[in-house]
Amino acid sequence: MRNVNYIDIPSLLEARKRIKSSNVIRYNNKEHQVSEVTLNKLKGKKYYIKTHGCQANIRDEETLSGLLSSLNMERSEDINEVSIIVINTCAVRENANNKVYAEIGNIKHLKEKLNKDKSKDKNQDLILILCGCMVETKDTLDKLINVYPYIDIILGTHNIDDLITLIDSYLENKGKNRLVDVSSKEGDVIEDLPTKRNNDFSAYVNIAFGCDKFCSYCIVPYTRGKERSRRVEDILLECKLLKEEGYKEVILLGQNVDSYGKDLKDYTYKGNKVSFATLLEEVAKLNIPRVRFLTSYPSEFKDEVIDVIAKYDNVMNYIHLPVQSGSNSVLKRMNRRYTKEEYLALVDRIKAKIPNIALSTDIIIGFPNESNEEFLDTLDLVRKVSYSSAYTFIYSPREGTLAAKMEDLTPYQEKVKRFKELTRVLEEGIEKDNLLHLNKIEEVLVTGVSKTNEEYLSGQLENNKTVNFKGDKSLIGKLVKVKINEDKLYSFNGELVEK
Ligand code: 5AD
Ligand code: SF4
Repeated sequence: MRNVNYIDIPSLLEARKRIKSSNVIRYNNKEHQVSEVTLNKLKGKKYYIKTHGCQANIRDEETLSGLLSSLNMERSEDINEVSIIVINTCAVRENANNKVYAEIGNIKHLKEKLNKDKSKDKNQDLILILCGCMVETKDTLDKLINVYPYIDIILGTHNIDDLITLIDSYLENKGKNRLVDVSSKEGDVIEDLPTKRNNDFSAYVNIAFGCDKFCSYCIVPYTRGKERSRRVEDILLECKLLKEEGYKEVILLGQNVDSYGKDLKDYTYKGNKVSFATLLEEVAKLNIPRVRFLTSYPSEFKDEVIDVIAKYDNVMNYIHLPVQSGSNSVLKRMNRRYTKEEYLALVDRIKAKIPNIALSTDIIIGFPNESNEEFLDTLDLVRKVSYSSAYTFIYSPREGTLAAKMEDLTPYQEKVKRFKELTRVLEEGIEKDNLLHLNKIEEVLVTGVSKTNEEYLSGQLENNKTVNFKGDKSLIGKLVKVKINEDKLYSFNGELVEK
């Protein structure tokens, strides 16, 4: 087995020193030196990135892409022709981990095949890099290191900016050593990392990293670290640049946007302390056509945020407000800091000020020892709120979290039964909500070609739902008007009425 080198900061500095100073890539206000060998070896070569999981990972993918592009590499969707494969992992549920193990297995075969082909001088130096949340939990990291020797570089969520230096060190050692760069502690927020966006019309903008909530089922606080907010100036600068580049939509991202700014102790913007409501208003004032945000935490969601959504037309009338459960006892065991009644009161206040608001949610079914009565409380809440869409999950124990240690006597079959029942009740609300849109003409941001029919385009309504309609590809990235003709429950069919 090859050696495993755990990279610490001094040895990274050492690696940087070894590298010739003539090859300099600048980002994050720093110069990053890359050896001639690495630059020549990778120039014009291709990389492949596969991302699992949430929007935070999708945004990280754009940074990984930006860093690799700064080595003059090109992105490819064909895994067979690339020199670098990056798997950007998710750890939030077990099936996300399993998908990654299966992928790594496939790449093993690819590497073996390339080794056999070595004489033909193909991509025999294929580098496999693993990053994202999975590598941030100790047991999984041990497994990745011990069971999968053909992973070449492992990079933690706090170490993305080390990507190039790691590739450089790896190539300098001619691939003899595997490199593991996972620091247990999050560093400061790093600005100005190179970014290659996935599209040129809708952009994710991080406003905060990490999470301090420690919901008892959730691995995120362990994988993404403490909450760290970006400064308003930096967020606004990124949004202004996006606007200048013609972006039609920005989506402000944080695990819990409502606690934005709480960690910025002595910081003020224009002389005032900052909150999510003040940030959202500043972004709204930039007049980007569409502003969205993800994700809200019910007990910290301030009425001021409702006021900003109501006041600005370009802040979409859509809130993703995860409830997780409608049972007070389950919410307590989940360490969610609100009750069913408080959640419903917030929903009432939102609906009173923004009557056409679309609400979506996340719900976990089968949390340890969830009783039938507790489940019925969730159904009751779902009926009362009537969500326009929802993401539902069967509870998946995550090692290291508090809930993973809880007794769970609820049979899995019972959980599946409840899951189906929940879906049925959620769909009643979704059908009701869809009727409000049928036969209306609404604004749509065209996001791409329909997945099922090449002649059709796909776009997003203000409420975040998809509508498919006939149209020319040149409309991708534009805001158009579409008449909504047919309700397909999780999407609509429509016709283009105005470009
Ligand atoms: N099991 C099932 N679902 C989970 N989520 C987070 N952790 C778990 C888990 N251990 C869900 C929550 C969260 C969404 C992103 O994923 O509903 O809001
Ligand atoms: Fe996980 Fe809870 Fe933080 Fe959301 S708020 S990321 S569910 S710990």
